[in-house]
Amino acid sequence: MSYRLFAVTAPGLEPYTAAELAALGITPLPPVSMSGPGEVKEESGGLEFEASTTDLFRANLMLRTANRIIYRLGEFSAVSFPELRKKAARLPWETVLRPGQPVALRVTCHKSKMYHSGGVAERVAGAISDRLGKLCPVEKFNENASPLPQLIIVRFNHDVCTISADTSGELLHRRGYRLETAKAPLRETLAAGLLIASGWDGSSPLLDPFCGSGTIAIEAALMARRIAPGKNRRFAFMDWPDFDEKKWKHVLSRAASLEIRSHAPIFASDRDAGAIQMAQNNAKRAGVLDTIQFDCRAVSAIEAPSKPGWVVTNPPYGVRVSPDRDLRDLYARLGDVLRANCPEWNTGILCNSDILIGQTKIRSLEKVRLINGGLPVTLYCGKV
Ligand SMILES: C[S@@+](CC[C@H](N)C(=O)[O-])C[C@H]1O[C@@H](n2cnc3c(N)ncnc32)[C@H](O)[C@@H]1O
Repeated sequence: MSYRLFAVTAPGLEPYTAAELAALGITPLPPVSMSGPGEVKEESGGLEFEASTTDLFRANLMLRTANRIIYRLGEFSAVSFPELRKKAARLPWETVLRPGQPVALRVTCHKSKMYHSGGVAERVAGAISDRLGKLCPVEKFNENASPLPQLIIVRFNHDVCTISADTSGELLHRRGYRLETAKAPLRETLAAGLLIASGWDGSSPLLDPFCGSGTIAIEAALMARRIAPGKNRRFAFMDWPDFDEKKWKHVLSRAASLEIRSHAPIFASDRDAGAIQMAQNNAKRAGVLDTIQFDCRAVSAIEAPSKPGWVVTNPPYGVRVSPDRDLRDLYARLGDVLRANCPEWNTGILCNSDILIGQTKIRSLEKVRLINGGLPVTLYCGKV
């Protein structure tokens, strides 16, 4: 079976997800122009690609930076509710739903005659029952519900309706290991994106001196050891009527055969003993506790091996942890400590303020614009 899939990413992470897809041997399709009259807009927030069933499994299992993978069931124009219901009923719902299985509908309407999202959801639910011969109860989508309903994503844009089925279930950043979080944790997908964007090679030393719950270090250890990030979780496609369990087990065992014992020295520290304990518990659940050296220490006391590596980190930057005026000294100290202990190291520092980064006196060679917790942030890549 062949699928047209869309890997949904956080804004700014698209190039890194594209690189990950390329590493899996999958070439993304060129971005679709969403232009309507008087408007030219390229589709962003993800990448579209053609996939076999094996690729669908691998994308969910292996991609480190994508939020979810959705399957485009179909696309058609519709300007009335009867037309919507009739055309939606032609889609192959039986590939993703059993008759009577609960569904959740997420509808957005943009510049279309069908602008009432509640009405659209009702007609699509009706179309599913028409096709499957039995009513599928509509539920709200709550990430924490168990079992999750099958999420259906309906989008109207300039009278064109695109209907997709989620293949992932819980968002892909939920790898299953991070059950304990300290202050302002990063999403696992963003942490992986920082590592890829900073250019870390997976074998040189890596240091996070503000590790909090350990997300960056744990993602680094998973990358260094080539451990599939999704190997311990469920996915929505596992509940589809024709789920090929044999093929899935084969994909899982192929992925397991790629795992290596890594010698990349990964160091994670934080001045908060509670955070270090949580980070260690998380690393243990992820199966990488022995790959990371955790230390409870302030940034001013960090130690690093003489062989240069990468500092990839997310220091407090005010909005979520403490106010800016308290932070200038911390950033200045970070710069001093890195010059003293990590000369020639590469840096990837996530922050929301040019002023704070300026305090480190480390010149930024590249700035990657990202979003963290809904706020614009920048990964400042440089060299000590
Ligand atoms: C934004 S959080 C890091 C979150 C982390 N990336 C995660 O995913 O959980 C910043 C961390 O810096 C730590 N921190 C603040 N000042 C510090 C200092 N002077 N030395 C070391 N750690 C410090 C805090 O305890 C906090 O855990």
